[in-house]
Amino acid sequence: MKFLLVLLSGVLFAASAFVTVSDQPFTLEQLRQLYSQPTSQWPKPDVDPGIQNFRELGPRPDPKFPKDNPYSEKKAELGKMLFFDPRLSSSGQIACASCHEPQLGWADGKQVSLGHDRQPGKRNAMSLLNVWNAEQLFWDGRANSLEHQLRFPIQDKLEMNDEIAQVAKRLNKIKGYQQRFKEVFGKEKFTEKEISQALATFERTIVSRKSRFDRFLEGKKNELTDLEIKGLHLFRTKARCINCHNGPLFTDNQFHNVGLTYYGRKYEDLGRYHVTKRAEDVGKFRTPSLRDVAYTAPYFHNGLFPTLEGALNMYNAGMPNLQPKTDAEKADTLFPKTSPHLKPLGLTEEEKQAVLAFLGAISSVQQRIAQPELPQ
Ligand code: HEC
Ligand code: HEC
Repeated sequence: MKFLLVLLSGVLFAASAFVTVSDQPFTLEQLRQLYSQPTSQWPKPDVDPGIQNFRELGPRPDPKFPKDNPYSEKKAELGKMLFFDPRLSSSGQIACASCHEPQLGWADGKQVSLGHDRQPGKRNAMSLLNVWNAEQLFWDGRANSLEHQLRFPIQDKLEMNDEIAQVAKRLNKIKGYQQRFKEVFGKEKFTEKEISQALATFERTIVSRKSRFDRFLEGKKNELTDLEIKGLHLFRTKARCINCHNGPLFTDNQFHNVGLTYYGRKYEDLGRYHVTKRAEDVGKFRTPSLRDVAYTAPYFHNGLFPTLEGALNMYNAGMPNLQPKTDAEKADTLFPKTSPHLKPLGLTEEEKQAVLAFLGAISSVQQRIAQPELPQ
């Protein structure tokens, strides 16, 4: 009997080894050829049924500006000054740029942000790269536009700890700002509305530069190595990333629970549920873009992973998938459910290296942004 079992598992093992091989039927040369075609002719991606609004990967798009707050160079310049100005905080010490630093991928490099009086917040600062594309802002989507978003960091006791009306009053006293707001909005007196419009305009100009992946798509076929092309193929197939990180900015703009809720523990964060109060949203967070991901460590809403390798190892293991154990947990309608699109991937060491190499290829060269001179 025991012998039979061993034999049977041997056969199964051989069968599964065969499946993995036939999953990857392409040689590196064939992959290069396939991916050198227009994206519409790429091999079919491995997309689960139930994935909404799937879009293929593509070249970096230019930002769009809304009709009720159109772009102008002067407005963006003014927004940039506000972004770097610590006078937007009650202490006069903290600017937006304190937690969204250009040289740290427009995030802050910390697990969770430190704000007013260096108090730690609850979440990892989000990169502002390509933020024009987000439909609902923050990890949990609690703001609907960049114009509307501004109140949150200013009012947050753990961030800038101020009132927007106070901020407006303070800035209205600064001659240099009076003059600039007049140039842009046609009036010297300005309020929250004009401040948020200028800041939002600047934020929409914060975009990734073209990466090697973009230049590859433009036809420069030597921009990606064989390993990176293999990583691209795995990203779209066996590694399953494309189920959620899709479209030209590598995000579906949807909310998913990837298993990092910390249910019932000190660091519990129910994410999207806090906004919608719907049980199905427990533990969901917005899919972040993966462009420039090499520079936005640490990763996830709680900054849990210091490296991409750590994050990928966790995906490879299928991410945490907590099951209710006690009766109380079984009865709890708010017990978090990990996304059904996540499962153990069985990536080999070499395949993981390929995916990591591809993530490097969608990270462009870091930008150097000169700090603007602040109006006096
Ligand atoms: C103390 C650190 C800190 C400061 C100061 C700060 N932020 Fe943030 N920012 C964060 C954190 C943390 C998040 C994610 C919070 C969350 O999702 O709950 C975030 C999220 C955002 C987002 C959402 C991005 C997205 O993709 O949804 C925008 C936009 C933003 N901040 C802009 C600003 C602006 C503008 C200012 C200045 C007025 C500012 N922040 C000041 C830490 C900070
Ligand atoms: C079910 C949808 C889904 C799939 C599949 C998925 N992701 Fe994610 N990814 C997300 C969401 C949602 C987050 C944010 C979750 C959070 O913070 O709790 C995220 C976060 C990340 C982050 C952190 C980025 C940052 O700025 O903090 C990385 C890196 C990442 N994913 C890479 C991958 C890779 C590589 C794959 C494939 C192996 C993959 N993801 C598959 C939805 C998904």
